[in-house]
Amino acid sequence: MSGARLVESPLIASSAVLEAIAREVGTPCYVYSAPMIRERFRALAGAFARTGYPHALHYAMKANSALAVVALLRGEGAMVDANSIGEIDVALRAGYAPRDVVFTGVGKARHELERAVALGLKAINAESAGELDRIDAIAQAAGVRARVALRVNPDVDAQSHPHISTGLKKNKFGVALDDAAEILRARRDRPGLAIVGIHVHVGSQVTTLEPFRKAAERVAALAAALHDGGLPLDHLDLGGGLGIPYENGTVPSFDEYAALLVEIARPTGLALIVEPGRSVVGQAGLLLARVVDVKPHAGAGRFVILDAGMTELMRPALYGAYHRIVPVHETTRPVVTCDVVGPVCESSDTFGRARELPEPAVDDLLAILDAGAYGAVMASAYNRRPLPPEVLVEEDGTWRVIRRRTTIDDLLALEQI
Ligand SMILES: Cc1ncc(COP(=O)(O)O)c(C=O)c1O
Repeated sequence: MSGARLVESPLIASSAVLEAIAREVGTPCYVYSAPMIRERFRALAGAFARTGYPHALHYAMKANSALAVVALLRGEGAMVDANSIGEIDVALRAGYAPRDVVFTGVGKARHELERAVALGLKAINAESAGELDRIDAIAQAAGVRARVALRVNPDVDAQSHPHISTGLKKNKFGVALDDAAEILRARRDRPGLAIVGIHVHVGSQVTTLEPFRKAAERVAALAAALHDGGLPLDHLDLGGGLGIPYENGTVPSFDEYAALLVEIARPTGLALIVEPGRSVVGQAGLLLARVVDVKPHAGAGRFVILDAGMTELMRPALYGAYHRIVPVHETTRPVVTCDVVGPVCESSDTFGRARELPEPAVDDLLAILDAGAYGAVMASAYNRRPLPPEVLVEEDGTWRVIRRRTTIDDLLALEQI
């Protein structure tokens, strides 16, 4: 029966473990598999290691910045890509050194640049000529040289959802490819800048190699031209973006991905940086939810209302993203057609329309799969709902809460009348 049992995911947790988590921690609740995160990262690291080419894997913290997840990946040898000073602080508390961090972000505030310069990060990925100038001024005032890479916009279509495509001319990210050389040449003697790299990121949930190829070829050509013009670099940062199979379909393997990027980087001789997020943690997490109501659908089938909503997992409302939804326990109930929705007062608070599920009943546990990336990190307290707890499960089925559920006292501690 389609969707009648938890997809073969002993790596996340057995039904018994999920039941215990739901009972003790409550729902909605994120559950992550530590062994699966390790396995994904090791597979990625192995693919790059097999190329024999110098590289560094900077985990994109924006995908999942839970302190325990970041610390786990540090234990596996990952470096990090941070998108805010908040993420940098999480990385430092997880044990990272500033030199392990690249700092990306389309609009970095002055206080963020000041902190980043003072820390001495591996690279600040600058998004504009103006940002390079601000970094230079801050660094000069501090009497240091900041390591910077320039983010270029390669005008490549990632063929992903428009909201997570970042590499087209019309997108706000980076500087135009054609302007990059001049911007860097004009700044190469600035006392506050050490120009160490070129950065590119075409988008997220990219499911074919072609966008990566085009972007990498364009920045490799730029790096070669800069080198010939007397501006040698240390690295090429080719961003993140490799997708995962949420529904049907396939994605390139880590080996195909690594081989392609290295093939293009090799002639430049520059070390390669990548910033994978989703492909490391996406499939290693699920959102555990309980059915709170079932009622007839005016169209067909029924509405199944969960205690989880867009407040916990925003991707369906934000991008129309597809997540598989499965019952935690096997059942012999007949399959029915359901719209699986959340409790929030927004019609976009819908996890899946016309899904085939074994007839759900109130108090059933459902799992929304592939929620390890861009899930908990995007949660909000809209409707004064608490932020969901996060649980990390180990290979032997033991588990621990890595973030507790917020309480109304937590929220109100920030407020006054
Ligand atoms: C600059 C940058 N690097 C890396 C990533 C990680 O992307 P993904 O999670 O798709 O691998 C993102 C996310 O969009 C990003 O904006």
